[in-house]
Amino acid sequence: MAAFPPRTLDTLRLHLRPGTLADAQAIFDSYATDPEVVRYLCFRPHQSLADTRVFLEAVERAWESGEGERALVIVHRDLGRIVGAIGIRKAGPRVEVGYVLERARWGEGLMTEVVVAVRDAAFADPDVSRFQALCDVENVASARVMEKAGMVLEGTLRSYEIHPNRSEVPRDCWCYAVVR
Ligand SMILES: CC(C)(COP(=O)(O)OP(=O)(O)OC[C@H]1O[C@@H](n2cnc3c(N)ncnc32)[C@H](O)[C@@H]1OP(=O)(O)O)[C@@H](O)C(=O)NCCC(=O)NCCS
Repeated sequence: MAAFPPRTLDTLRLHLRPGTLADAQAIFDSYATDPEVVRYLCFRPHQSLADTRVFLEAVERAWESGEGERALVIVHRDLGRIVGAIGIRKAGPRVEVGYVLERARWGEGLMTEVVVAVRDAAFADPDVSRFQALCDVENVASARVMEKAGMVLEGTLRSYEIHPNRSEVPRDCWCYAVVR
């Protein structure tokens, strides 16, 4: 059985592969600078390509070491370019994902397609028993993606994490998961 996460994944419309420094400009142009996109995320909009490079250097280190958040960039096959990314953390039996898509592509079912594919790949690894994700309690689109991917709302993690574009005060987050 292939170890999770795989380095590539293909869905009907998308190709997922590890992000590299060479993707900096594409990610900067796609989603990283958009205040609406990062509204409920843990980072501020990228101000320059240097910010995107810092992110991608961490991604490359994670893939090399097999530890930390391993991000796959999401390439839209018809458009032939990056439209988003999904970060994947594996800790023992647990997999956690976090995802982002450029605004122009919202509402087309793309992220549900990604999360379902990553969920299925996770459960193809016999060591994985739990697949989870968190979102800000105001992030209804993200919550809906998790529901459509068969995940169940387990509860609210109070004052869990700072989403600096929303508030400096730690935010309540919903925890969704599906178990084997
Ligand atoms: C969250 C996000 C990834 C969703 O991606 P997407 O490809 O548009 O998601 P999908 O099209 O698969 O599904 C979105 C669902 O949310 C629903 N939705 C979107 N905005 C909504 C809103 N304001 N209120 C209620 N439902 C909403 C859509 O109608 C759709 O549900 P449906 O298929 O039942 O109609 C995308 O909006 C995004 O990148 N947001 C910014 C980054 C982010 O917040 N990431 C998640 C961090 S936890």
